[in-house]
Amino acid sequence: MNIDKIERRTKGIKISYFKSLDSTNSYLLENGDCGEVCISDSQSAGRGRRGNTWVSPNSGNLYFSLCWCFKKKPENYALWSLLGLLIGIAIAETLEDIGLKGHGIKWPNDIFWQQRKMGGILLESKNQLGRVVIGIGLNLKMSKEDQKQIDQAVVTFEEAFGKTFSKDELVILLIKKLHQFLKDFDTLEFDHFNEIWNRWDILNGETVSIKHQGEDLLGQAGGIDSFGRLLFTNQKNNEMLSLSSADIKLNSLNKGV
Ligand code: BTN
Repeated sequence: MNIDKIERRTKGIKISYFKSLDSTNSYLLENGDCGEVCISDSQSAGRGRRGNTWVSPNSGNLYFSLCWCFKKKPENYALWSLLGLLIGIAIAETLEDIGLKGHGIKWPNDIFWQQRKMGGILLESKNQLGRVVIGIGLNLKMSKEDQKQIDQAVVTFEEAFGKTFSKDELVILLIKKLHQFLKDFDTLEFDHFNEIWNRWDILNGETVSIKHQGEDLLGQAGGIDSFGRLLFTNQKNNEMLSLSSADIKLNSLNKGV
């Protein structure tokens, strides 16, 4: 990767680049300066959400993290819980800017293209209030052999775009978009946010099955509340649940953007 070029084009952002690393999130959680970006060609202990492993071979995929420090706490506490969703939107918009169609976000922040996962986001913080590490993994290029290590349907950028493209250019665009979104974050209004979210939400109105308190439930997903929780109506008793975390399976998904 051409790190000088990325630093120049992102107006001097500090980039720490490695051929291999345990996890770019771990690196920044321990050593990261505010605004610093860490990129690695592979990760030996890549982490996903809900304690999962993020398979990170040296195949051309993108594994990177950004350390962000909020100067002031957002007035509205509920905003914090929307941050992870917002990062998903920033990525979805970047992909739209470079011509992708048919992608969306599976709550809370999995990037999907035609029913298969193309990327994921992991937000972590440690000790300091307002300092957050945003980790992003995108499947740009991966052999079928490597894809077999993942226990769900995945798709690569190469397949979705029908061409290979520069990892450097993608990182530059993502950093710019993330900055734009993050600097406006503390003045974000939920109603406005919700409108944008609805545009990308691939679960809205879909029948999904979830595991909730040890029970398998079938029902409809119906958008989010102002805390970014998924609204789910249980088909059995019409009870509405607000879920802050859940393992969601799509029963029928036939929607793109
Ligand atoms: C998920 O969908 O489960 C989230 C995956 C996040 C993976 C990225 S890759 C870069 C950063 N470093 C990590 O260890 N995890 C995130």
